[in-house]
Amino acid sequence: MKNILITGANRGIGLMFAKSFSNNVDTVYTTVRDLNNCDELKKIKNIEILELDLVDKNSIKSFCSEIKDIPLDLILNNAGTFQDEQMEETNLDSDLWLDEIMINAIGPMTLTQKLKENLMSGIEKKVVFISSQMGSVDDNYSGGYYFYRTSKSALNSAAKSLAIDWKADNISVLMLHPGWVKTDMGGSKAKLEIEESVSSMLKVINAFDISKTGSFVNYDGKKLEW
Ligand SMILES: NC(=O)c1ccc[n+]([C@@H]2O[C@H](COP(=O)([O-])OP(=O)(O)OC[C@H]3O[C@@H](n4cnc5c(N)ncnc54)[C@H](OP(=O)(O)O)[C@@H]3O)[C@@H](O)[C@H]2O)c1
Repeated sequence: MKNILITGANRGIGLMFAKSFSNNVDTVYTTVRDLNNCDELKKIKNIEILELDLVDKNSIKSFCSEIKDIPLDLILNNAGTFQDEQMEETNLDSDLWLDEIMINAIGPMTLTQKLKENLMSGIEKKVVFISSQMGSVDDNYSGGYYFYRTSKSALNSAAKSLAIDWKADNISVLMLHPGWVKTDMGGSKAKLEIEESVSSMLKVINAFDISKTGSFVNYDGKKLEW
């Protein structure tokens, strides 16, 4: 692959993806919300760092015009948020809920749609959405987490449509659950180290193609329930 794009690359899973891809591609385009808060990312070779805040549609628009003429082989929609732990389930805040759906579903979807020409001029034409098993309705046995669950369900539903709509253009779309990972979001009790999750997801990303477009899979490649 020549050029790829990773959103939310200043920490956690996105940072590890950026480090891993930097050895194998010409340029890793990455996004952060604050250019003054991405020192680790700045140390990586072959990196371009751009500002993007997925809660803000003007930020999405100006980011897309900045990257307009760059061919992209892969768009890795990784940035995400999880605010549910601050919420009482009896007092849901609709503004926070909308923000979470914007950041986790609408933002990555509209961003990807605006970058279709970039993908069409790339070679591999791959889109990955880092989703979550918590977005699976079938797999919801414990309840709660209204914001996060609905945002990732919405993402899965929209990405499935995108996979169908873009199949004729030979663009492959994958929804990928990273496992429960030790990041700021996953917390210290999580089961997987970041390296383990990302190295496993890299194999899945390299192996998937148009024949598997529209799949929702675990970090080890196993199919997940919707
Ligand atoms: N960790 C897990 O166990 C787990 C499990 C399932 C799914 N996931 C998914 O995996 C992805 C990466 O998660 P992580 O664990 O690496 O989380 P993390 O350590 O909390 O990092 C989240 C990243 O998303 C960025 N971000 C947050 N809000 C944003 C916004 N409004 N606009 C643009 N970027 C924004 C953050 O930027 P700032 O530094 O500026 O906040 C940061 O770079 C997410 O999509 C998450 O839902 C994680």
